[in-house]
Amino acid sequence: MRDAGGVDTAPAGCERFRAVDLARLGRTTLNLLFPSGRAGSLLEDAAAALGEEPEAVATIAGALPAPLGRRLLRRSRRPVPARDREAAERRLVAAAFWYLVYELAPELWDRLASAEPIVPQLLADLPADGGRVVDVGAGSGRLTAALAPRAAILVAVEPCPPLRRLLRARCPGVHVVAGVGHRLPIRSRWADLVVSCATFGARPPCGGEPVRSELERCARPGGCVALISPETPTWWRRHGYRMTVYPALPGRAEADLEALLGPPDPPHVLLLKRLPD
Ligand SMILES: C[S@@+](CC[C@H](N)C(=O)[O-])C[C@H]1O[C@@H](n2cnc3c(N)ncnc32)[C@H](O)[C@@H]1O
Repeated sequence: MRDAGGVDTAPAGCERFRAVDLARLGRTTLNLLFPSGRAGSLLEDAAAALGEEPEAVATIAGALPAPLGRRLLRRSRRPVPARDREAAERRLVAAAFWYLVYELAPELWDRLASAEPIVPQLLADLPADGGRVVDVGAGSGRLTAALAPRAAILVAVEPCPPLRRLLRARCPGVHVVAGVGHRLPIRSRWADLVVSCATFGARPPCGGEPVRSELERCARPGGCVALISPETPTWWRRHGYRMTVYPALPGRAEADLEALLGPPDPPHVLLLKRLPD
């Protein structure tokens, strides 16, 4: 997952969204955004930003585990000065930015992904030929489409429904399923290669130990797990992943896209681990 950073570094595209838009996100996305036990300051921001939008608060609260939902409802009833409410809304939208893009403006993500091609040599080095492959956080299919002609069976796991629709249209023959990295709908030891591009970092729920152990659970003994340009590659290296950095391709310049989403950053780093036999 890309990190939009704080309010000061967030892409200009944040202006397209308001706090109430979070109520249009699906349950899975809301639970990734407000993970139990880690929702902390973001939940406080949601409560402050949405205090005058009780329907939106109720929708979001209803998607979360009951104790978290109740906390959001309770906090949202506290009076908040207008200036603090606006600041909370800006922080909330910046933190949720990429989820909002994936789910509410998937065509924007799709354009960015095609303007940021994965380095061909990196793709060629993935041990995918003739094997059972799982692509986790497959998005609109940038990596999936490259692997489909090479894999014997390819499963693309993607939590966001609009991106799954794009995937199905783009990659007929690929098994497209809903799922998240820390709970994959894949049998243990099933895959020859489990791979993910530009999705996971070092912190749960979008990375860290729960995701690493789940990716490795799905690969067979002697099989491989690969991360392409994950956030925090050093974290993956510390866990036995060998890093190769390829010369980056230039991204395709598209001025309107860059103005909304920031400069292109084509994936060019591979972290690969072969599991013991
Ligand atoms: C930066 S996009 C990359 C998409 C695709 N892998 C590519 O390279 O074009 C990140 C993707 O990960 C998905 N995602 C976000 N959090 C996830 C999680 N916890 N588990 C699985 N996928 C996740 C998003 O819905 C989005 O499709």
